[in-house]
Amino acid sequence: MCGIVGYIGKKRAMPVLLDGLKRLEYRGYDSAGVAILENTEVKAFKKVGRVENLLKAIETAGELDSMAHIGVAHTRWATHGKPSEENAHPHSDEFGKFWLVHNGIIENYEELKKELSESGVKFSSETDTEVVVQLIAKEMEAGLSFEEAFRVALKKLRGAYGIVVMSADEPEYLMAARNSSPLLIGVGDGEMIVASDASAVVGTTKKIVYLEDGELAKVSADGLKIELIAEAGKELKREAETVDMDASEIEKDGHDFFMHKEIFEIPSAVLNAGRGRFIASEGLVKFGGIEEIKSKLRDIDRIIISACGTAAYAGLLGEYFIEELAGIPVEVEIGSEFRYRSPVFTERTALIVVSQSGETADTLAAVREAKEKGILVLGIVNVVGSTIAREVDCGIYTHAGPEIGVASTKAFISQLTVLLLLAIYLGRQRNLSVNETKEILADLEKLPELLDSILHREKLAKKLAKKYKDFTSMAFLGRKYSFPVALEGALKLKEISYIHGEGYPAGEFKHGPIALLDEKFPVFFILPSDDVYEKSKSNLEEIKARQAPVIAIVTEGNKELMRMADDVLEIPKIANILSPFLSTLWTYLFAYHVADMKNLDVDKPRNLAKSVTVE
Ligand code: M6R
Repeated sequence: MCGIVGYIGKKRAMPVLLDGLKRLEYRGYDSAGVAILENTEVKAFKKVGRVENLLKAIETAGELDSMAHIGVAHTRWATHGKPSEENAHPHSDEFGKFWLVHNGIIENYEELKKELSESGVKFSSETDTEVVVQLIAKEMEAGLSFEEAFRVALKKLRGAYGIVVMSADEPEYLMAARNSSPLLIGVGDGEMIVASDASAVVGTTKKIVYLEDGELAKVSADGLKIELIAEAGKELKREAETVDMDASEIEKDGHDFFMHKEIFEIPSAVLNAGRGRFIASEGLVKFGGIEEIKSKLRDIDRIIISACGTAAYAGLLGEYFIEELAGIPVEVEIGSEFRYRSPVFTERTALIVVSQSGETADTLAAVREAKEKGILVLGIVNVVGSTIAREVDCGIYTHAGPEIGVASTKAFISQLTVLLLLAIYLGRQRNLSVNETKEILADLEKLPELLDSILHREKLAKKLAKKYKDFTSMAFLGRKYSFPVALEGALKLKEISYIHGEGYPAGEFKHGPIALLDEKFPVFFILPSDDVYEKSKSNLEEIKARQAPVIAIVTEGNKELMRMADDVLEIPKIANILSPFLSTLWTYLFAYHVADMKNLDVDKPRNLAKSVTVE
């Protein structure tokens, strides 16, 4: 995700800010920018691409040695608006007085932007962030101080933010605030660094004050005042903590691998993919990205989903979701097959492509083929401004943040979240009742907490990994919603542990692959207590009769499976349609620990690339 650095103090600001940005590079970004203030004059630089490009531009402008002692800087990972210099942070108001950097998403930016535009404010970027700095300037016009204007502006925001802002007229301090997006302050000797991540700070100081949600801070070189956004005048006392980690450990937030960190980000991936897109109590789902084709979608009578690898398995679940909730026939076509198969379209067919990177060559080929045929193409993509995101007719971003581990995890769950919401959206255009919608959305709201409860039981997955890591093959089985989970679980095990994993529909296994089974061929069976549970249980009996060891993912409290399976992993009770979110998480934890115990490079498995840009 994006990275923030703000500096005020005795050193020259520019080298500290650039050093901070370099330390944040691991998070993934597509543009970078910096603004410094020297004698009431602000100098701002922004570049698409690496921090190195930004550094060169600053060097060329002769500003590397600037005497400024205050500034803000940012690495942006695009969410609203493509990666470009206009959209890169810091953003300023139209008079260049305030310079602001922001991480997170402002959910109500469209309505705020409309209000501001109607009152004559001119915007220069496509971002949600710019409304914040324009709002501050607007409040100042009403005669408030910088500090007050900042607070009033924050109160108007809905969504997630970590924000740092400087004012050209008040070079003695920075203002900062946090809500659902991390922000901390490194406390040095006569200097302060505000950052989204401790790795940007530890080069200067190990003393850190963490801001909490709903707090704002006034940060000067030798003082820090923290208050609640909601309540002026009541200073909160906060002791600095000493962090005893080196920068590389902090980048992974204490996790051994990025994949592990990303698995632990799955609850927030669900939140981020759904943020601002549904209101459970009203049974309402909306997507800014497809509003303009709302009526076309109402006429669609067939959908093809095309994707590769993990994204294709998300697509398969999308097929189940859309057919069940919207009643539209869906077929899933692997990207590399789609274009060579002469697929048959009518003008009421839509293609949905799913891709984390937005650069997968086979998926892109499907987009181009469909566009050639003139059918509507919708993208579900994580990386903003990627080729697929740019070439589709319209799209929905998954907002999972950068995924660094080659094996996709949090991106898959964010794709499921968007596909489920899309299925509901299409369903509401057709026969899906508002009551059924409310029920599913209410469970979707609970999902992050339930996912967390599984993460808290990680050691069970570790225990099973130890027991099963030396087997050379494993089958992953499931019916209905659990079938794509089986495919994804098997893929994950293969990719990172090099153990052969065979994903199969549980009911189909008896038609051949069951011949493989014996006591040396374990089965990972996903059978929550849903409408196909009894059928799955019969298949499990067939497997047990062949002496294969069984790990079963079951709904908590299922006593009979405790007796039948060798090992059991429980998922909390939830609407059937949401069970794949939970069971997938167990398969990820299991695959991760198997690979880790085999001392493999979990983040960079052999022969694989994060983004496959060849056919
Ligand atoms: O970037 P994409 O989602 O388009 O990538 C598709 C596949 O290459 C990707 O999901 C791949 O299967 C992963 N390594 C799975 O973990």
